[in-house]
Amino acid sequence: MTVLELRTTGMAVGGEAVAREPSGRVVFVSGAGPDETVLVELVDERKSFARGLVVGVVERSPDRVQPPCPHVEDGCGGCDWQHLAIAAQRRLRLQQVAEVLQRTGGIANPEVRAGVELPAERLRTTVRGTTDLEGHFAFRRRRSHDPVAVDSCLIAHPLVEEIVANGWFGQAEEVTIRVGARTGERLVVVSPKATGVRVPAGVTVVGTDELGKGHRAWFHEEVAGRTWRVSAGSFFQASPEGAEALVTEVDAFIQRFAPDGARLVDLCSGVGLFAGTVGAGRSVVGVERSASAVADARHNLADTDARFVKVALGRWRPGPADIVVADPARSGLAAEGIRAVVATGADLCVLVSCDPAALGRDAGLLADAGYVHVGSTVLDLFGHTGQIEVVSGFVKESTSAKLSS
Ligand SMILES: C[S@@+](CC[C@H](N)C(=O)[O-])C[C@H]1O[C@@H](n2cnc3c(N)ncnc32)[C@H](O)[C@@H]1O
Repeated sequence: MTVLELRTTGMAVGGEAVAREPSGRVVFVSGAGPDETVLVELVDERKSFARGLVVGVVERSPDRVQPPCPHVEDGCGGCDWQHLAIAAQRRLRLQQVAEVLQRTGGIANPEVRAGVELPAERLRTTVRGTTDLEGHFAFRRRRSHDPVAVDSCLIAHPLVEEIVANGWFGQAEEVTIRVGARTGERLVVVSPKATGVRVPAGVTVVGTDELGKGHRAWFHEEVAGRTWRVSAGSFFQASPEGAEALVTEVDAFIQRFAPDGARLVDLCSGVGLFAGTVGAGRSVVGVERSASAVADARHNLADTDARFVKVALGRWRPGPADIVVADPARSGLAAEGIRAVVATGADLCVLVSCDPAALGRDAGLLADAGYVHVGSTVLDLFGHTGQIEVVSGFVKESTSAKLSS
């Protein structure tokens, strides 16, 4: 076991601190903050970099706090920033977004601001874990597949936590707990089979084997004055408060830069969140590759004229639009998504990113395609973790010139 004393110099995208060995090799350190001296056990050594875990603190960062959840000490890998004060987490997210926009996106002095502050705790309506040998819910240990059994979860909504604490899942390999915080509906998806699973009364349980045979299961959530059906296989945001914060920030860019845009494309539309909110009163096309999400979106917005196309981004044939709202998966829009945005001719693209590295790359591609970055808003959707959610606005160069003249 190699243990080194290292000085961290900053935080990397993804949440680890960055340090250098005397040889110059970079070490990504889990459990450290910026600017502190720590003892690091190396757990993964490569030629050009290594990864390690903090096993002792020599000189602490002023940002360091005692993790509020007892399971961090047990090795639970669910939250990687519990050792950092909430204010520091918020500051670091802003810094990281500004850095990627500058370094990767090539945007000089990007405007980056914090959105509405959301609580870090008791908010998350979806958690994914595994089981311990006795069938209790467990998260994975940091940098390992081993289970760490937990009887509570600080970041989970109480309706989720009750299932974490009291459920029994046999030999399940994966357990996903999803709840509608405002409807009280709860769904547990168990892989590979749900046989014998015990959960509190009223919770729907389904096995991935049943879903694979066409069985349908869903819960409902209330967000922005609408009720949303969310099927077991469909994405939904991490909390209703988070979903509303995203809608507010997306709408803020639309109101500022394209309030009269009559045609809106919702790229990677999921169950229709943006189509059904910022799309209201506009002609809307949603583009989504998940069959269950498209079915949910059509059901959720049956009272509107919104149209949903079940197709992967790269195969979609774009039509003209004034506004594109794009909320892709972690991998971002990439070249094929940017091509789709450009082909619509939209004056405004509002990009929702859940991975800053992908945001930096997409911002650079949009700039190459003639879109000017007009601001990014960072939201705390994933408190106590290094995961970052960002809403960014990009305005077509000709439109931006008109706006500033
Ligand atoms: C982060 S979710 C956002 C969903 C929705 N905008 C929301 O806020 O609830 C990303 C969505 O993109 C979809 N998706 C991922 N890759 C895609 C692709 N290549 N083409 C179309 N949709 C894709 C996923 O199925 C998922 O529903």
